[in-house]
Amino acid sequence: MSTFDHEQILIRTGPRSGLPVMVAVHSTALGQAVGGCRLWHYATWQDGLTDALRLSAGMTAKCAVAGLDNGGGKTVVAMPEGLELTPSLRRGVLDDVADTIASLDGRYATGPDVGTTPADMAVIGERTSHVFCRPAHQGGSGDSSPHTAIGTLAALRAVGRSVHGTPDLTGRRVAVVGLGSVGERVARLLADEGAVLLLSDIDPAKRALSAELGASWDDPDQALTADVDIVVPAALGGVLTEQIVPRLRCAAIAGPANNQLTTPAVADRLHDRGIIWVPDHVVGAGGVVHALTVELHRGTTEDAISRVHALGDTVTDLLTTAERTGMTPARAAHDLMALRLGAAASRRSTPSPTGIPAT
Ligand code: PHE
Repeated sequence: MSTFDHEQILIRTGPRSGLPVMVAVHSTALGQAVGGCRLWHYATWQDGLTDALRLSAGMTAKCAVAGLDNGGGKTVVAMPEGLELTPSLRRGVLDDVADTIASLDGRYATGPDVGTTPADMAVIGERTSHVFCRPAHQGGSGDSSPHTAIGTLAALRAVGRSVHGTPDLTGRRVAVVGLGSVGERVARLLADEGAVLLLSDIDPAKRALSAELGASWDDPDQALTADVDIVVPAALGGVLTEQIVPRLRCAAIAGPANNQLTTPAVADRLHDRGIIWVPDHVVGAGGVVHALTVELHRGTTEDAISRVHALGDTVTDLLTTAERTGMTPARAAHDLMALRLGAAASRRSTPSPTGIPAT
């Protein structure tokens, strides 16, 4: 039996929406658990639960490796395939989510994720204060996706430095798979850098962006396996399977999509093939770093932006450690997370000589 290592899972049928509302609190070892609210279609509610379990653990890693004093959690509202969200149903879902979060008394705070927006966070904020990224005029730090995209670009420059000896992405062939709110921004930033782009999305309407940026276009499977320098998964998770690894033709993979690997062993298969994979939780931390720096730690916008850029240094450190030791970047990131979580645990168990609890 695999071990259950989440602190708490709360699943309830939303009294207004009738939908399963699931909040997974993976860890509060470093502080309040944070993680977005995903409002998405699933074949079964159990699939939604699996997503919540994995995504919340990913948030623990994301916060720990980015140096944030927060733990990981996630909210998933599992909608049946084909369900149309009317405005009143959406309102019901958000109120159900808000009450569920409020019942956790601050152990967990949410933010936007796939299927939710800053405006939705303002609705949740009517019933609980444990919410990030409300629009600026409603007291929050607004959309997190520009910052996730900027952090991704910093990570890609660090990958460029490691693979090609220079962070300059001019002329690098980059495939961006998934053109949602983060993916589109990453594509635009890469176009500004002079990268040669291959774009892809399950939605054919996104082809217009490709035309606008002078990029090539292909379907997601072709783009993932294209002969390029770097592949950037920027949509939903689970795209890197054991089966796809032998078909990959890129030098490196680094993107903000959460939970890219179907199993942790895929990181080893990528390593065996000499493909650098930077863990998604490192690449995609910019949004949460920005929101928490501004809203929780009362940092200035400049502090937040410099912390987002520093994700590039984190990637460089992980890739340097990986190269020096022969371990995968995933293992190097895991060790860094374990170090931070271990330090937090020993701070808690060591009584302070003054009797004042160590913080
Ligand atoms: N969707 C964000 C992520 O996966 C979640 C988030 C953003 C949470 C900003 C809080 C604040 O990192």
